[in-house]
Amino acid sequence: MKKIFALILAALFCLSGIALADADKPELHMGTNANFPPYEYHEYVDDADTIVGIDAEVAAAICDYLGYTLVIDDMEFGAIITAVQTGKIDFGMAGMTVTDERKESVNFSDTYATGIQVIIVKEGSAITTADDLFAEGANHIIGVQESTTGDLYCTWDIEDEGLGTVDRYKNGADAVQALVTDKVDCVVIDNEPAKAFVAANEGLIILDTEYVTEDYAIAIAKENTELLEKVNEALKALTEDGTIPAIIEKYIPAEEAAE
Ligand code: ARG
Repeated sequence: MKKIFALILAALFCLSGIALADADKPELHMGTNANFPPYEYHEYVDDADTIVGIDAEVAAAICDYLGYTLVIDDMEFGAIITAVQTGKIDFGMAGMTVTDERKESVNFSDTYATGIQVIIVKEGSAITTADDLFAEGANHIIGVQESTTGDLYCTWDIEDEGLGTVDRYKNGADAVQALVTDKVDCVVIDNEPAKAFVAANEGLIILDTEYVTEDYAIAIAKENTELLEKVNEALKALTEDGTIPAIIEKYIPAEEAAE
């Protein structure tokens, strides 16, 4: 009996030791929108709803390197920049494209990945190239995730030009669902999530013509230049030692990326 008691005590001591060690490390809060595979999405890991993906793992590696505990806050994509500006989160990482407009509100780290805006249609769609969306007299309904670059480009290039309507959804999966149920004629979204959504839904294809190529980076508050420098240092070290390439390869195997 005494032995068991001692064991339990020892176990408790270990557990609290771990908790203490973690509590010693300051937290860094990452804001993301976890409906964007393979960059961030929900998955059951050991029966627990967990946010996984390239961004989640790269952020964990950065925090580990810098001696922080990572906390991930899931929010609407359009809320991330403001959350960074107001200090609600320490950084935003969400397959987020560096744009001049966003640079007016936040700083961006060095880029760690590339994205391409592509067009998803139903098999047999009348839309066969990107140009079909901008053709004179075009009048399509385009599904996008609200506040993303896909939304911005389609608003400027298509809606503002009187060449169609942009339907904005809370997340990419909802936009794709609208395509499946014929509420929109196509979806403009980043290539890797596009591949994941097409794989998960029958009868959808990605058009060969690409719309725009972009750089992904981490958004940090303008005044927090100290964190910006640290994150860039971590990104450099973790790229050089192969950690980040291995994370990307795990989610986007090279043979697949070449397709
Ligand atoms: N790259 C696009 C942008 O920055 C889309 C990102 C959407 N990310 C997400 N986690 N939902 O606007």
